Amino acid sequence: ESVVFKYTNAVCESFNKTIIIIEKCRVRVVNRQKTTFNFNCTLMQPVRTVSVVLRVFKRANGYKPWLYTINVNVCQFLEKPYNPIALLVYNQFKPFTNFENMKCPLIGIKTIEGAYPRHELMRLPLPTGEYLLFFAWKFNGLTVADTNISFAFIEDLTAQ
Ligand SMILES: *[C@@H]1O[C@H](CO)[C@@H](O)[C@H](O)[C@H]1NC(C)=O
Ligand SMILES: *[C@@H]1O[C@H](CO)[C@@H](O)[C@H](O)[C@H]1NC(C)=O
Ligand SMILES: *[C@@H]1O[C@H](CO)[C@@H](O)[C@H](O)[C@H]1NC(C)=O
Repeated sequence: ESVVFKYTNAVCESFNKTIIIIEKCRVRVVNRQKTTFNFNCTLMQPVRTVSVVLRVFKRANGYKPWLYTINVNVCQFLEKPYNPIALLVYNQFKPFTNFENMKCPLIGIKTIEGAYPRHELMRLPLPTGEYLLFFAWKFNGLTVADTNISFAFIEDLTAQ
């Protein structure tokens, strides 16, 4: 592959620990070309309404205003993945999760272990650079957590 695509950093924060506890949120370096994203959290109470706003930023002297924003009704999405961009993002993490047959109400421990970007993303026409996926989570209408994952996309290694 002439493309390097890897997670570079992860920062998560719970704003209400009676609702969600985030125990793990980090990027582990495997080697120069490969890193993994590892995450676990506990949803302390059943959550019936979940939404997430995903903003994608590209870094250029700090992160500039987002490239795009999508707003996903997570409970509807789990029933029927209605948004193709959300599905593309979800498919990046799904094989590494314990989310099998996940449906609302959501509760308990959610884990992502050893996730790395998968090949279908390589086909996106992304310019080389560093990007940030900013997920802002709302449970029952309240902002409860941020999960921020950045990744580097380096298109042409021979040019480095
Ligand atoms: C996530 O990124 C957004 C956009 O840069 C920022 O406003 C927010 O504070 C970040 N959250 C955390 C937990 O770092
Ligand atoms: C956290 O969530 C609990 C349960 O929903 C709520 O009673 C409490 O007011 C919330 N605390 C904050 C700081 O939002
Ligand atoms: C979640 O992460 C913490 C901190 O790394 C770890 O101690 C705990 O065993 C993890 N829990 C699960 C269910 O993976």
